[in-house]
Amino acid sequence: MNILLTGGLGFIGSHTAVVLSQQGHQVTILDNLCNSQIGVLANLEKITNQKLPFYEADVRDTQMLCKVLSENQIEVVIHFAGLKSVSESAQDPLKYYDNNVGGTIGLIEAMQVQKINKLIFSSSATVYGIPHYLPCDEDHPLAPINTYGKTKLQAEEIMRDLVVSDPAWSIVALRYFNPIGAHESGLLGEVPNGVPNNLMPYVCQVAIGKLPHLNVFGDDYETKDGTGERDYIHVMDLAEGHLAALNYVNHCPGFEVINLGTGIPCSVYEVIAAFEKSARRTIAKKVQPRRSGDLPIYFAKADKAKQLLGWSAKRDLQTMCDSSWKFQENLSK
Ligand SMILES: NC(=O)c1ccc[n+]([C@@H]2O[C@H](COP(=O)([O-])OP(=O)(O)OC[C@H]3O[C@@H](n4cnc5c(N)ncnc54)[C@H](O)[C@@H]3O)[C@@H](O)[C@H]2O)c1
Repeated sequence: MNILLTGGLGFIGSHTAVVLSQQGHQVTILDNLCNSQIGVLANLEKITNQKLPFYEADVRDTQMLCKVLSENQIEVVIHFAGLKSVSESAQDPLKYYDNNVGGTIGLIEAMQVQKINKLIFSSSATVYGIPHYLPCDEDHPLAPINTYGKTKLQAEEIMRDLVVSDPAWSIVALRYFNPIGAHESGLLGEVPNGVPNNLMPYVCQVAIGKLPHLNVFGDDYETKDGTGERDYIHVMDLAEGHLAALNYVNHCPGFEVINLGTGIPCSVYEVIAAFEKSARRTIAKKVQPRRSGDLPIYFAKADKAKQLLGWSAKRDLQTMCDSSWKFQENLSK
């Protein structure tokens, strides 16, 4: 199929581009490079051994989108393009609403003009807010506690209304948990902008001596070892989840929300131990007080993905850490 990946040079989009291309799909990428590097394209082409059409453009540019959709005879869009920093979204909410909500509206308008009605959307587990119960399933109440999460929920709601207004649409919103890891080649991975917000990129930078130590925020939670537990999912498993969702949108009209997680929570100390094994070095760490707003434990119920998409995560924590380290070593060369 001809598939457009908005934000396709980013962390999750680039890995998905590999999986789709290797399955014989024709992938076109549109990205404004606000959080990615053009060099990712060359690495993508190296891995897939294919030339991929690329447009440096913004999803809010509806005219440009119409051109890209028609020029490449796009049949399905996977909408990764978005801003994802919780802290930045608190400082600059308009930027987030404009990009994440405005960008989604612009994209849908262009799709309507071009009569394309199949869409897969990058949503997030942040739409659930503070869990009332765990594991978190798709019926859990929706109450995001930060602006980033609210933009994702608003985008979902727009899509839900759209499908009510025109049932020919087929849309799947994938609610990701905590993607980490990298492509096995070591050529693609997560490149954080500035000091990383997330655990794995932070650990990588401590491992290469770029940061002095890892701050562990709280070791007195009621969890298996006192540190916070999260549902880390290998980015290649996530990418394969998009392939499964592609088959679904092709056959099932309507709007669906589906969690993509492993259903297995891992603690900060477990991640550090696995990473130390991968990198064969010790990660310096300092225990700090708990951060306000942090949850002790958060993980997905991943059954719906298995039932509807026939997909489940396969790669374990060690594989996630091995690939992250391989990518980091390549970056540092
Ligand atoms: N990584 C995570 O932990 C996570 C978790 C849940 C959901 N998500 C969502 O998944 C999507 C992809 O995440 P990622 O981790 O790959 O992020 P990323 O920042 O690596 O990739 C996003 C890409 O979109 C591009 N982009 C942003 N705004 C754009 C615009 N207006 N027009 C064109 N391109 C634009 C960026 O340049 C970047 O290449 C995002 O929408 C994010 O909110 C990510």
